[in-house]
Amino acid sequence: MQTRLFGKDFISTEDWSVDELTAMMDMAGDLKRRFAIGEPHDHILRSKTLFMLFLEESTRTRNSFESGITQLGGHGIYLTPSATQVGHGENARDTGGVLQRYGHGISVRDCRTGIGQAYQYELANEVDIPVISMQDDVDHPCQAMADLMTIREKFGNNLSGRKFVISWTYAPKYVRPLSVPQALVMLMTRFGMDVTLAHPKGFELMPKCLDSARQHAKENGTKFEIVNDMDESFKDADIIYAKSWGPIMETEEPVAVQAMCDQYKDWICDERRMDLAKPKSIYMHCMPIDRGYEATNAVVDGPHSVIYDEAENRLHIQKALMALTMGGHL
Ligand code: CP
Repeated sequence: MQTRLFGKDFISTEDWSVDELTAMMDMAGDLKRRFAIGEPHDHILRSKTLFMLFLEESTRTRNSFESGITQLGGHGIYLTPSATQVGHGENARDTGGVLQRYGHGISVRDCRTGIGQAYQYELANEVDIPVISMQDDVDHPCQAMADLMTIREKFGNNLSGRKFVISWTYAPKYVRPLSVPQALVMLMTRFGMDVTLAHPKGFELMPKCLDSARQHAKENGTKFEIVNDMDESFKDADIIYAKSWGPIMETEEPVAVQAMCDQYKDWICDERRMDLAKPKSIYMHCMPIDRGYEATNAVVDGPHSVIYDEAENRLHIQKALMALTMGGHL
């Protein structure tokens, strides 16, 4: 088991080896067991502090990180641009340089296209304590790791030949980032699964993420394909991950986005489509889910759904991540 992870940043799964990512999942399993039986583990990060900077809203990420560090004996501080001088333009060097004098880790959610992940790497360059992505424009590494942990719980650790589908769905209201589908195609191709990405034309992902997925598939003997037909993608799938994202490679202008999305209102995950997948397939979504648009209630609340397991595993994965990167050696 790879254990020399103290001080390591976690901005993208791409920066961690398969051994390191597996160590995180192993540790998460152990912490999940301890949590389940009420075995104390609050010595692991006693008196340590994680600064959590959010540029966007969150239910799962904030509460799982904050609960997680509390359970490990430390403290999480919720920060926003308007509650700090980040909102007045204080740069990464000054913000990070000061925070690292007070605490032991910095986590950031910043999904601004072309800015979010770059800011985190800039911050990581300026500080010695670990920088953790809580989602950006490119990756959502903690979500993808929680999802992978969930898949391993359902299907076992040998995922060779399992068909993983990430399909675009329609959703109204706001432009969702590309980071979840990108995180999934980059990670699942490294862990034995044959990955199918389905979306209408115009909803492509960032070329560098597609290139990574292709490269991982080549190196790991897995498959990666892109199709423009939702029904075709669902056929014989083991894992269905169906969610919306914006046509960000083309436009983020809200009226234009909605016009593009409105052409594909029939891209919904419903029982008819779930019947195209294998009988023991699972239905996944990172949440928040737009019920009735991205998926029907019958699917979201149905027998294939594992969405609360995924959300729960955010807690255990992030505790493992914090323990490994912020805990350190005796
Ligand atoms: N899945 C996820 O990251 O949820 P939140 O946006 O609520 O944090």
